Amino acid sequence: MVSEEKIPVHVTIIMDGNGRWARQRGEERLFGHNEGRESVRACVEYAVEKGIRYLSLFAFSEENWNRPRAEVEGLMHLMLKAIMDETPLFHKNGIRFRVLGDMSRLSKELRAQIDDCMTQTETYERLTLVIFLSYSGKWDIVQAANRFMKENPGKELDAGALEKYLATAGIPDPDLLIRTSGEERLSNYMLWQTAYTEFYFTDVLWPDFRKTEFQYALDAFSKRERRFGKI
Ligand code: FPP
Repeated sequence: MVSEEKIPVHVTIIMDGNGRWARQRGEERLFGHNEGRESVRACVEYAVEKGIRYLSLFAFSEENWNRPRAEVEGLMHLMLKAIMDETPLFHKNGIRFRVLGDMSRLSKELRAQIDDCMTQTETYERLTLVIFLSYSGKWDIVQAANRFMKENPGKELDAGALEKYLATAGIPDPDLLIRTSGEERLSNYMLWQTAYTEFYFTDVLWPDFRKTEFQYALDAFSKRERRFGKI
């Protein structure tokens, strides 16, 4: 713990390394994703405890659709099950659940489960948990620009107008982005929204990223001086 702890409003995490974690144990990749689910729960609980208002997680990118079918199906099943199992935790802790991304590619069953959980939790304000599913930063910017043009024919687009059409409209930009597993890139995640985000990279694989590791990231954030382009 650092002397003066600054709590970020919005923490976003690129959860990486489930496959490697499983391989190190001679297991299938889905074994790693399953254990990664435990890290999701631990981080959600810790975010509530720390008073973080928004926690967002990059769970499945547009590019991830190109993984082997069995892994994609396994991950979608895991999402469905996680939402079903964790809804009571959302009620208990006042967590608003949201999913952002290209919903048209998800199964009807998963979409229905997501809609149900989002409706059940929409009035909660303690923590907003955002899951990015079938999402990519370029997709978001393009869909926002297209919707703007459709709804405002002949009008010129500016930054403020575009932001209102991004999938993340109404959600503050992330203060802190964490990526696990030693990779140090954005991988087509929130390209627009991370303009002034602080980045924290760790070699720890996602299934091993729990409360203590989360606190290390928060400690690092507390020490950063954010100037937003000013001096
Ligand atoms: C990246 O590891 C992880 C994913 C693509 C999936 C993340 C999903 C979960 C943690 C499951 C639970 C999620 C929720 C929201 C309940 P990787 O497969 O790219 O690992 P590798 O880089 O070691 O191969």
